Amino acid sequence: MSPADGGAVIVFRDVTDEHRENILNRQTLEAVFDAMPTAISVADPKTRRILKVNRAFSELVRRPAEEIVGLEPPFPWWEPGEEADGYAARDRTFHRVFRLPDGRPQPVEISLHYVPGDDGEPALRLALINDTSEERRMQQQLVQSSKLAAIGELAAGVAHEINNPLFAILGLTEFLLKEAEPASKAQQRLELIQQTGLEIKEIVRALLDFARENAEERHVVPLEDVVQATVDLVRRTNAHKGVELIDSYDTSRALVKASPNQLKQIFLNLIANARQAMPNGGTVRIDVRADGDWVAASVSDDGPGIEPDVLERIFEPFFTTRRSTGGTGLGLSVSLGIAESHGGSLTASSEAGDGSAFTLRLPRACEDQE
Ligand SMILES: Nc1ncnc2c1ncn2[C@@H]1O[C@H](COP(=O)(O)OP(=O)(O)OP(=O)(O)O)[C@@H](O)[C@H]1O
Ligand SMILES: [Mg+2]
Repeated sequence: MSPADGGAVIVFRDVTDEHRENILNRQTLEAVFDAMPTAISVADPKTRRILKVNRAFSELVRRPAEEIVGLEPPFPWWEPGEEADGYAARDRTFHRVFRLPDGRPQPVEISLHYVPGDDGEPALRLALINDTSEERRMQQQLVQSSKLAAIGELAAGVAHEINNPLFAILGLTEFLLKEAEPASKAQQRLELIQQTGLEIKEIVRALLDFARENAEERHVVPLEDVVQATVDLVRRTNAHKGVELIDSYDTSRALVKASPNQLKQIFLNLIANARQAMPNGGTVRIDVRADGDWVAASVSDDGPGIEPDVLERIFEPFFTTRRSTGGTGLGLSVSLGIAESHGGSLTASSEAGDGSAFTLRLPRACEDQE
């Protein structure tokens, strides 16, 4: 290109620039499209055939783009039996649960946008999809802890109401005991009343302790004490109906930095599961021990155990084999969430026919770690 070429050259250069700019625009768009953390699919608005997806979309549904482009509903990541709804082409946002190739659920939020063509009719259907697993987990935990808070409040109210009449009963019993003839039937019966009253007082105290504590507050405590308090609560409220609870502790009194109430919730869930697995009774063993830099607590039962395909899924939110008897499938997923938020883990092991064992492991803390 010599400068002498004049106007023609300038036009020619203009086109190059335009062309280059086009390519640049396209490449930039492609790069942005692929780098977006939000999963995006572009589809035909009528047939809903997928024309293009970005990398985040492939990652979300765990399939390569080549396997996705060209698909039409029902998509393989839909829950089995889910229908394509015949709604009008309008922008909207809704929640869905995708099924991953390994069967795990993937909760998502989908935002639909219709891009009009030259004729004003929708020409492209854009779906922006966000992974909401973490959000859901937080919500569930919130539901559980607010449920717990509500129970706590109720318990505190009830406990308060019970305390006053109980005080009267205990006071009067003591008064009558002073007047009763030693070794008489009346004295024996009064002593029985007094004992029972004191037991009620203990239950009320345990409930109040449970209610008073703030779930978010973390203290350095021996894990043993938390477990013991939970076992105590279960025994006092007879929530272990029909099963024998055996708790054992090593001599370390190893410490953890934790919210005792949240940890109690884990043990309550594990003990409830063990009991529900053994409707005809059995033994639940709870064992706490130090293990190097960790403290481990396991809850094991001699129930029917868990089949491998069930075992794979028990920590999923809403997974339950007890739907018909009121199971929500949240117990273990919430427990796992609590364990992980404490920097620990919750694992399960089971041989079908030979019971199940759940182990909570938490980092060991030291005395001055406030
Ligand atoms: N100790 C156990 N023995 C046998 N199966 C168990 C045991 N613990 C858990 N499971 C299995 O794991 C599933 C999920 O447990 P999870 O506690 O999350 O929910 P759930 O007990 O079914 O319902 P929820 O706890 O909300 O009442 C149970 O439905 C059951 O199939
Ligand atoms: Mg449960």
